[in-house]
Amino acid sequence: MLIYIKYINYIEIRILKNLLQILTIPCKKIILFFFNYLYTILFMDKKIKVAVIFGTRPEAIKMAPLVLELKKHSEFEPVVIVTAQHRQMLDQVLDLFEITPDFDLNLMKPNQNLWSLTSEILMETKKIYEEVKPDIVLVHGDTTTAFASALSAFYARVPIGHVEAGLRTFNKDYPFPEEINRVLADAVSDLHFAPTEGSVQNLLNSGIKEGITNGDIDSSYETGRRIYKTGNTVIDALLYTVEKNTDLSHLGLRDDLKTILLTSHRRENFGKPLENICDAVLDLVQKNKDIEIVYPVHLNPNVRNTVFSKLDGIERVKLIEPLDYAPFCALMKKAHIILTDSGGVQEEAPSLGVPVLVLRDETERPEAIASGCVKLVGTNKEKIASTVQKLLDDNSFYNSMKMAVNPYGDGLASKRIANIILGNFSK
Ligand code: UD1
Ligand code: UDP
Repeated sequence: MLIYIKYINYIEIRILKNLLQILTIPCKKIILFFFNYLYTILFMDKKIKVAVIFGTRPEAIKMAPLVLELKKHSEFEPVVIVTAQHRQMLDQVLDLFEITPDFDLNLMKPNQNLWSLTSEILMETKKIYEEVKPDIVLVHGDTTTAFASALSAFYARVPIGHVEAGLRTFNKDYPFPEEINRVLADAVSDLHFAPTEGSVQNLLNSGIKEGITNGDIDSSYETGRRIYKTGNTVIDALLYTVEKNTDLSHLGLRDDLKTILLTSHRRENFGKPLENICDAVLDLVQKNKDIEIVYPVHLNPNVRNTVFSKLDGIERVKLIEPLDYAPFCALMKKAHIILTDSGGVQEEAPSLGVPVLVLRDETERPEAIASGCVKLVGTNKEKIASTVQKLLDDNSFYNSMKMAVNPYGDGLASKRIANIILGNFSK
């Protein structure tokens, strides 16, 4: 009898054990699932989803260090969106910084216009914001991409951070349409990352008040906007790149000649002003047998048609394709003088100690002019040619402009911006 009971017990225990074992398999799964879920709400959801959006070469160069910085922080989930307002000139930057976009709108069309590009960016970013639901959208500067994607984020009620906020000429037609693009981007933004004290003041003067709220981002979003002086991320990009000392032998530059680097692409210089610039170049190479002018020609057909028809085949004028950022930095460093209407080049060249003449009548970047290494010469042929001539002939004038100053940053702007976003958004 006893044996029988023991046997029954033994069988019951075996059955119970097996039953438990069968049960623990799904139990284990349920427990694992539960912990996974708990981990997701506790930790994953705490990530701050930062949508970084850009489309042109200069935006890419200036946003790339920030993307790399955001990736270093486990608190962020960066989502890179490119409009591809530029295609080839954007891709070379993505390659250099090894950034793979999460969304590529691939919008560029040959000789595109402002209307279609603006409306396409508005419509396409709407879909992405709805899908991604970012905590903040970061835009850069003054391009159509910056303005349209900021407006789109504003419509979607997503907080906006404007990198390179507060630049102004206070002339709505110069540069066109960039002055209005940046005014509008600032107007809809919540966090303003101003590169210099001047840009901070411009924002304050335009009614954007510093530190109105001390609550979290939601109250800030409703009642006030914030301004932070961060420096310009272009210096972060330049320092990252220039130390690569990229080889320029493929350009076949002559060692016995002084290199003058030229870039010009601004809309307001299309037509006659750009022709004047080309005429000044013709004048200069004719008078000075010891100079070589190197012009990486922007891919905009409005630029290329004028430049190639005026300068193609001229001795000691090298018209080349736009350079990738690393060789371009090496070329800026090697140049004796730089002539440019580019915003980015005006900011970078002072760090390299190369005199810069700006081919515009107005600039939103007065800091380098104040420091002495940059001068505005406009687009008058005689003024350009005579100022370059003075730099070539007058050593003391040249030396007075050849100084390495860094009014736009110290290479830490991206770090500051990332920390500021953390401070505003940590949940
Ligand atoms: C744009 C910006 C300008 C910025 C400049 C930087 C606006 C209104 N303008 O001017 O603020 O200073 O970029 O370079 O946002 N193209 C190519 N491949 C490229 C890039 C351009 O073929 O990689 C050609 C295309 O034909 C394109 C045209 O250039 O349609 C014009 O491009 P777009 O971005 O509209 O104007 P940009 O003059 O480049
Ligand atoms: N740049 C480049 N290759 C070139 C010419 C310029 O990489 O052939 C870089 C330059 O160093 C600067 C940026 O492009 O960082 C400026 O872009 P662009 O002049 O097109 O625009 P802007 O700054 O005027 O808006």
